[in-house]
Amino acid sequence: MFNVRLNVALTFNVKPESQTFLEEVPPNFKSAGVQPEKYVDTYAEWDTWDTINAVKDALERYNDVTLIEANYSAFAKLKEINPNIVFNIAEGFNGLSREAQIPSILDMLQIPYTGSDPLTLATCLDKARAKEILSYYKIPNAKFVIADSLETAKNINLDFPLIVKPVSEGSSKGIFSTSFVRDKKELLKEIERVLSEYNQPALVEEFLQGREFTVAILGNGNEAEVLPIVEISYNDFPKDFVPIYSYEAKWILDTKENPLDVFSCPAKIDLQLEKQISGVALKAYNALRCKDWSRIDVRLDKNNEPNIIEINPLPGILPDPDENSCFPKAARTKGLNYEEMINKVLYVAAKRYKLI
Ligand SMILES: Nc1ncnc2c1ncn2[C@@H]1O[C@H](COP(=O)(O)OP(=O)(O)OP(=O)(O)O)[C@@H](O)[C@H]1O
Ligand SMILES: [Mg+2]
Repeated sequence: MFNVRLNVALTFNVKPESQTFLEEVPPNFKSAGVQPEKYVDTYAEWDTWDTINAVKDALERYNDVTLIEANYSAFAKLKEINPNIVFNIAEGFNGLSREAQIPSILDMLQIPYTGSDPLTLATCLDKARAKEILSYYKIPNAKFVIADSLETAKNINLDFPLIVKPVSEGSSKGIFSTSFVRDKKELLKEIERVLSEYNQPALVEEFLQGREFTVAILGNGNEAEVLPIVEISYNDFPKDFVPIYSYEAKWILDTKENPLDVFSCPAKIDLQLEKQISGVALKAYNALRCKDWSRIDVRLDKNNEPNIIEINPLPGILPDPDENSCFPKAARTKGLNYEEMINKVLYVAAKRYKLI
């Protein structure tokens, strides 16, 4: 695959485990009778050492690797080490452009890196901005409104049920079963919660009622490849859980010890739907100018038309197959193991920069 051995730096943010323990149990979770070990979602986006080491081990197969934590010393370290390329999985600190921080530093230092540029990372983190671009290109996505105060919330004119989420979070942060709202009273309560707990506007969207999928894309330009589609199905959930892949679902209900049968890959869909879903996901990937890899969440509306939920240019990549991380799952279904998947991402990035 690689004709030269590159000096690769791996940039990451590591989860402080001790900060994520249970403070309060969400109401729906209690009724499901499952004991959570954690609930606070502050660091849900960051990676564990298991993931960081798995990526490092994979990269070391073909290249020399240095770990660089994406903290305040990152700039000086990157400048000093001056790697040939950075494999970036850092989610960043603070603010709406946090995922863009390391790529911005790397652009400044003229160091190549895997994945999307700062503009794409920051835009996709703001789900409303990303939806505005999708709408410009007539790529289907749920009708939405941004509520930055309770005053705006009172005038919302969308069709219930709705879903309310923080406008710029990932890893299901801020998305609980209560985010699904059936009437104005629930809507106002949820908006208030997002405004006060997440200190950012709430994105209010019409609820897409149909089947849900996630689509991993790998590569660039004409060579961008859609990996086998993953379906997320809710049949295995406790019956009072609403059908959303919420924080409770992702991090508490569906665990390594107690796996739920949530994902199927390849999704059991006919060729026509497969083409529609792949097509819309690729359009979104190109409209947002994603580079090298991304995972695109899609859900069918009441007319069975695939809509984009969001674009993840820094997809989750938990290495343990039992942990149900969708990008690695799609890669595995395609016949790429974790090591091959990581090296393929590095390879398409290195090729894009003409390093190999
Ligand atoms: N408009 C919608 N209609 C139906 N379901 C939705 C809608 N928006 C979000 N959801 C549900 O909520 C889940 C989480 O939403 P979303 O993907 O926006 O959040 P996220 O935290 O950024 O996700 P990720 O973990 O993929 O980063 C989706 O997987 C889906 O189940
Ligand atoms: Mg998502």
